[in-house]
Amino acid sequence: DGEVYKYYCEGEWKKSASGKSVAIINPTTRKTQYKVQACTQEEVNKVMEIAKAAQKSWAKTPLWKRAELLHKAAAILKEHKAPIAECLVKEIAKPAKDAVTEVVRSGDLVSYTAEEGVRILGEGKFLVSDSFPGNERTKYCLTSKIPLGVILAIPPFNYPVNLAVSKIAPALIAGNSLVLKPPTQGAVAALHMVHCFHLAGFPKGLISCVTGKGSEIGDFLTMHPGVNCISFTGGDTGVAISKKAGMVPLQMELGGKDACIVLEDADLDLAAGNIVKGGFSYSGQRCTAVKVVLVMESVADILVEKVNAKVAKLTVGPPEDNCDITPVVSESSANFIEGLVMDAKEKDATFCQPYKREGNLIWPLLLDNVRPDMRIAWEEPFGPVLPVIRINSVEEGIHHCNASNFGLQGCVFTKDINKAILISDAMETGTVQINSAPARGPDHFPFQGIKDSGIGSQGITNSINMMTKVKTTVINLP
Ligand code: G3P
Repeated sequence: DGEVYKYYCEGEWKKSASGKSVAIINPTTRKTQYKVQACTQEEVNKVMEIAKAAQKSWAKTPLWKRAELLHKAAAILKEHKAPIAECLVKEIAKPAKDAVTEVVRSGDLVSYTAEEGVRILGEGKFLVSDSFPGNERTKYCLTSKIPLGVILAIPPFNYPVNLAVSKIAPALIAGNSLVLKPPTQGAVAALHMVHCFHLAGFPKGLISCVTGKGSEIGDFLTMHPGVNCISFTGGDTGVAISKKAGMVPLQMELGGKDACIVLEDADLDLAAGNIVKGGFSYSGQRCTAVKVVLVMESVADILVEKVNAKVAKLTVGPPEDNCDITPVVSESSANFIEGLVMDAKEKDATFCQPYKREGNLIWPLLLDNVRPDMRIAWEEPFGPVLPVIRINSVEEGIHHCNASNFGLQGCVFTKDINKAILISDAMETGTVQINSAPARGPDHFPFQGIKDSGIGSQGITNSINMMTKVKTTVINLP
């Protein structure tokens, strides 16, 4: 009961001098499951100092050696999948099977990043001067990609391991050092993942992991002069970070309100299957979840019926039992979702299932006949509640999608590929999926949000490039 997980600094596990801890509440039992150190600002300073020093020699470590260590870490991570998955089940109520998948996917991501890194960082450019008017061939320009320095990685609770390694691996292969601030819910899973990197034998100080209260070390970390790049995935906090951060590259992914447009000629079984999977997996707690269905009125009754038939089959209960719908991450999150549901009720949305909640567990709910004056038409519930808006034209659907302040992904169901492409072009989102629910993976695909959904592009290749800067040397011939 009294055990507090240590934080990771200088290749060692340490207790914070604060003597304080942060409790991690199990979303299912709503009792304290684990405790982590509440690190101090002095400890953050120390971590930054060490990260800066460690990066200098890491940048000189041959690329193939960096890759070799990452491959080793990936293998260890996969070996540790069971205990890490158990943390995910207890800390964030991720269904047991999905928790294992997250860890395995993370191992694969690390290996792929190592492979991709040796290819793209192993190449530079050579330019000659006489292609630009007025120049003779008297200048040779050599370009290469060099590391940024210290990368600060802040992943969210919904993928504490996967969205941490999606920042750690590109940072390291590119020759950067890494400071991780895990989400409180998921911190122990993240510490265990860091332990895998520790076992792989990375140099001391190259990776650090500080835990603690956002109010104490959050701004201090993101505004720290020692940070050369911030990679953040999460919610509104990202907007605040981007306003306060210094002149450093930012990679941000801040949620979405992914629309699913269903046309009259769509395969409605395919659409219904994807709506349920996209809207309700991990109880809707994914940035890329389907968050609003925009269906043509003429097929709406049939689609809603098909979706409801599938919703009825979703199992509801604890993550240990591999239920489809599990408790949402916190009581405040459940209260927020309930607020959206009550607003829709007052404004006469059609409840396809009765609203039911026990503690943090909310039963899956499809709301039909949602109108634009309802909050749920625009806000992200990050829970198992999905609104359906009936539309009379494709333009109406596109308009709703583009009126959102978010722009992460979207999807369209139709058998007409020409229409699908035109709709994709018209949708102001980072990605549009044709005939499938939105998703980030496969993890080497570019992944980006526009508007309030983010800054920059992720995905393995883009993240490696983003965590480097271009260096040129010009040889001037006599
Ligand atoms: O919510 C985080 C976002 O990156 C979603 O990832 O793999 O569930 O599409 P995924």
